[in-house]
Amino acid sequence: MLIDTYGRVATDLRVSLTDRCNLRCTYCMPEEGLQWLAKPDLLTDDEVVRLVDIAVRMLGIEEVRFTGGEPLLRPGLVGIVERVAALTPRPQMSLTTNGIGLKRTATALSAAGLDRVNVSLDTLRPGVFKALTRRDRHKDVLEGLQAARKGGLTPVKVNSVLMPGLNDDEAPDLLAWAMRHGYELRFIEQMPLDAQHGWTREGMVTADDILASLRSRFDLAPERANERGSAPAERWLVDGGPHRVGVIASVTRPFCAACDRTRLTADGQIRACLFSTKETDLRAALRSNAPDEEIAGIWRLAMWGKKAGSGLDDPTFLQPERSMSAIGG
Ligand code: 5AD
Ligand code: SF4
Repeated sequence: MLIDTYGRVATDLRVSLTDRCNLRCTYCMPEEGLQWLAKPDLLTDDEVVRLVDIAVRMLGIEEVRFTGGEPLLRPGLVGIVERVAALTPRPQMSLTTNGIGLKRTATALSAAGLDRVNVSLDTLRPGVFKALTRRDRHKDVLEGLQAARKGGLTPVKVNSVLMPGLNDDEAPDLLAWAMRHGYELRFIEQMPLDAQHGWTREGMVTADDILASLRSRFDLAPERANERGSAPAERWLVDGGPHRVGVIASVTRPFCAACDRTRLTADGQIRACLFSTKETDLRAALRSNAPDEEIAGIWRLAMWGKKAGSGLDDPTFLQPERSMSAIGG
């Protein structure tokens, strides 16, 4: 098991497959100038599959989420999914994507064994999309979402980040749209994980802001508290159900005490937390032919030292060096 000194057990593994992306969301990446990881530093497909195998066989991982950057830019993705689906025990498998490549890949991913997708979409307005992501690809995301649903990658979840002055008035429209199309919508509070360090607490849209905005059009009833479990999203029943909406309030209502995550970066580093400033290298062990038991041991130790919380409220909080695109959401 991956247990830490606070008794939390990590059963959910996030695997970043690339730090590259075909968008430049303002809350994540600068317009230009971000250095990509060098190819030889990236784990190969074989190395990724070996680590996931160790994780499910020896470390109690039950769920694997592929992230990026943009994971659909990873050439070997379908093959990786296929091989992970063949592992014993077979983990639940999902993918967090900006959706652009889904039109092309949803059917193949589903056939390879992917269970579902989380697609990031912050706005229904193409112009605002372009301002937020610095790319004119709104239509591609909408088409990707449809392809995911048709391909059976369900429930399709949609992640939205609200940014002041850009799309903070769109929460009710996004929810109405998601309900119409059968997508499960979750709002994510903006976190200080952007490469250009532009986040401020005063400048972020909080969970309370989002809920107030939604309540201007919908009746929201909280799901029973015990249903949140380790899931980061607090969920509300919309207008009596059956539709739900989630809010992931990592900043104003942190859920660190129930965290069940462990993270692997595209270059083979274990991160116990999104906000860790320390990483543990598995790649060197992999490449020096360490046996599975030794790699599992390094991983266990990395998680044992997981801190109690993100440290966001600590006056000495330091933003991690890697940005979201290099950690994986
Ligand atoms: N704060 C909150 N969410 C972010 N994401 C990327 N950067 C940030 C940030 N700074 C979101 C993406 C995607 C998920 C992986 O994380 O929009 O939905
Ligand atoms: Fe790409 Fe996701 Fe970062 Fe946007 S948030 S730039 S889609 S990695």
